[in-house]
Amino acid sequence: MSVLTDVSTAPAREAGARPGDHVIVLFGATGDLARRELLPGLFQLARAGLLPPRYRIVGTARSPHGDEEFRRIARDAVAEFGQTPPEGEAWRDFAGTLTFAAAEPAHPQPLMDAVSGAERAVGGTPRRLFHLAVPPSGFEATVRMLGATGLAEHGRIIVEKPFGTDLASARALNTAIHEVFDESDVFRIDHFLGKESVDNILAFRFANGLFEPIWNRNHISHVQIDVPETIGIEGRAAFFEGTGTYRDMIVTHLLQVLGFVAMEPPTTLAAKPIRDETSKVFAAMAPLDVRDVVRGQYQGYRDEAGIAPDSQTETFVAARVEVENWRWSGVPFFLRSGKSMAQRRQAVTIAFREPPMRMFPLSSDTAPRPTNKLVIDFADPGWIAAHFLAKEPGATMRLGEAAMTFRYADSFCNRRSLAGYERLILDAMLGDQSLFTRSDGIERLWEISAPLLSDPPPVQPYPAGSWGPDAALKLIAPHHWFLPDDH
Ligand code: BG6
Repeated sequence: MSVLTDVSTAPAREAGARPGDHVIVLFGATGDLARRELLPGLFQLARAGLLPPRYRIVGTARSPHGDEEFRRIARDAVAEFGQTPPEGEAWRDFAGTLTFAAAEPAHPQPLMDAVSGAERAVGGTPRRLFHLAVPPSGFEATVRMLGATGLAEHGRIIVEKPFGTDLASARALNTAIHEVFDESDVFRIDHFLGKESVDNILAFRFANGLFEPIWNRNHISHVQIDVPETIGIEGRAAFFEGTGTYRDMIVTHLLQVLGFVAMEPPTTLAAKPIRDETSKVFAAMAPLDVRDVVRGQYQGYRDEAGIAPDSQTETFVAARVEVENWRWSGVPFFLRSGKSMAQRRQAVTIAFREPPMRMFPLSSDTAPRPTNKLVIDFADPGWIAAHFLAKEPGATMRLGEAAMTFRYADSFCNRRSLAGYERLILDAMLGDQSLFTRSDGIERLWEISAPLLSDPPPVQPYPAGSWGPDAALKLIAPHHWFLPDDH
């Protein structure tokens, strides 16, 4: 009898699934996120034949625009940020599905009319998908409006991050949402979880017998999740001043990635088991110790338009967190992200303990001594490398660093993957919540963040284009940040 358990018939993530008919309502349709990601992403899905057979997209924002003007805004967005130019029949078909309605929570009638019009155009009873690409302060009023007008019926909602700004606001938002939507229709989006390489962390760990047996405190000395960015705040002063790097990147993207790196094997690939396991990781995390957090601010931030001259908003965070369970007890996880840094990278590094004896001379004495590590670079399209020591060719026994690298493009014939937002919008239309965050998980992350949010250490200046304040080096000692040395 086979000892293998085949659970490959688990219901989620069916190949080639195409959603049923939809009316997609894009709040914040003329904003930065819609321009950079959502409109280009929707066009890309349309081109790939992954949008429903019949659909309409209703853009909405406070400022008035006509349908034609909105189509022009969308075309410019796709031309600037899309994968393929907005041309030909594909563009004409897509543009024909776009309409616009100026609306705000207190005056929803134009939006209600536009949604009715879109539904008539689609025919039948399409699903409604509301994407809230608005600042967090606008979430609650919009959700209440969807409930009061009846628009929420037969609808699903995608809520952007950050989901609240602390535990109290996240709870209030969850309560407001649950008064209108069932949890099964709520999609709290974190586009890092839609990245191909993050999904691949599941495959890497749980589809191979090679890595999982050493994925624990017996073999791993520490973990780094490192997302330096070269960009500054790109004109998003109002958003950034009210958010800062901890809320914009750490409590959202980096800790969500940590959930996948640290989780126990889910029983199947369905949404509930996956989210149960990430929630257990968050439940096992100790509240942040402010002494383990470095907040930085790049020099010149306070001179940017719209930023307070004495702003204490952080543009850089390095933090040490612990997951107190059987697998990870004693293994620190170091997180780092910042704007205006020396390089743009998105990498998880799993650093392994040294073997008990150092028998071999190294070809270079430079400190720090190289360690075995697995690097998962999750910037699309991403790669995975195993770093180890190997004998240098020649008569002497001396070792140097070597790496084995997997690149998607080498193994998978350059087939284009979906970008994070494309993948997640598709999943939301299909009703698959596997890669979306759950209310308990998010609330727990705000709970462990409370000591930092209530008593943040002062921001430390760092030169733009650098690796952040020196304190971040002390935080990780005796280890060191692998970036920028290891590629
Ligand atoms: C967004 C943050 O969620 O993620 C931005 O608001 C950040 O500040 C961005 O720059 C990074 O995502 P990506 O996938 O574009 O590197």
